Amino acid sequence: MKIRMSSPDLTDADRQAVLDVVKTPNLSMGPKIEAFERAFCEFTGAKYAIGVSSGTAGLHLCVRAAGIDVGDIVVTSPFSFVSSTSVLLFEKALPVSVDVDPVTGNIDPDLLNQAVEDLSFGGERTRRWLPRRLPPVNQGSLKSVKAILPVDVFGQPADYDAIQTIASQYDLVVIEDSCEALGGEYKGRPAGTLGDYGVFAFYPNKQVTTGEGGMIVTDDDQAADFMRALRNQGRAPGDTWLQHTHLGYNYRLDEMSAALGLSQMDRLKDLLQKRERVADWYAHHLSRIEEVTPPQLVQNTTRVSWFVYVIRVAQTIDRDRLAQVLKEKEIPVRPYFSPIHLQPYMQKMFGFELGDFPVTEDLGNRSLALPFSGKMCEEEVVIVCQRISEALVAAQKFAS
Ligand SMILES: Cc1ncc(COP(=O)(O)O)c(C=O)c1O
Repeated sequence: MKIRMSSPDLTDADRQAVLDVVKTPNLSMGPKIEAFERAFCEFTGAKYAIGVSSGTAGLHLCVRAAGIDVGDIVVTSPFSFVSSTSVLLFEKALPVSVDVDPVTGNIDPDLLNQAVEDLSFGGERTRRWLPRRLPPVNQGSLKSVKAILPVDVFGQPADYDAIQTIASQYDLVVIEDSCEALGGEYKGRPAGTLGDYGVFAFYPNKQVTTGEGGMIVTDDDQAADFMRALRNQGRAPGDTWLQHTHLGYNYRLDEMSAALGLSQMDRLKDLLQKRERVADWYAHHLSRIEEVTPPQLVQNTTRVSWFVYVIRVAQTIDRDRLAQVLKEKEIPVRPYFSPIHLQPYMQKMFGFELGDFPVTEDLGNRSLALPFSGKMCEEEVVIVCQRISEALVAAQKFAS
């Protein structure tokens, strides 16, 4: 039995939906994307949904719509997939990272509050939060805090009541990176709708996949029009194919992808439930393994959307050795996340060093994503857990 890190949950109906599109002349910007967008408005309750070519593209368009520009400061989290920070750098804004909550891995609201207060106060108080080194483009052009970009890590929403209190006090835009959280809920409110903009992603390991793709949701009329134009090479309503009111991109989602996504959205409830069932099996079978902590949910998370299943190993365990031994036993696992500030390009740009964000680094050192998809059966989960038990013996840090 080959156990895979992840696998898309596709039915014949999903495949047929793609084939049906290929038989028509409408391969881009046709009825499927419109229907896929409507499905997102219905599911999230957002006024607008804009399909795009990836989660990264979606986040980038939100950055543009929020008017984030050279030197604007955006407070965000270093414990994320890299694009939540990269999209700020695309616009030469300055990402200021604050450390995360050790339980959820989501941005720490107290640190966020301190950072925004100090950065807004200016002068000496900003020092603590700014990176060691600023890229030449930001030297002399630093502005004030413009936005917060929280990430709903592993499908669990960040603490948006706290985030919104800070945002309204300082008049900041909130861009919710909900790429991992489709179907998640914070105090009964759907992930993606907890900020001014929310973004979902549809890579094949996601809850819903389109191969590649993403979806922005927002209630902001003007921003929605602007983002629609930007994804389509900057063509505003009324522009012809060769007229470009704005500087834009080709961030369109094609009709085949949209058809697949739409077909998956019809099964969303089932897709989420299947993932939840696998997560429950993991929680049950891992409960006997002392050195491993399963994902922890907080009270505000009225529903987690299981995107990945990330365990945390005890301090006594060499996580990388554990991963290696599991690999030898044909169990694919992955350290997840690898902190953004320690990525080579970030170290080079900003001079980050080990120790700059201790909670993020500790999570980065002790987290391990296990094989996970809604298609797994309990037997596979049992095998993974058994192999973990066996591998832990070889992964003790102080073994003689
Ligand atoms: C938290 C987070 N943000 C952004 C993205 C980017 O999405 P994409 O790979 O579709 O560009 C991902 C994708 O894995 C993600 O997990």
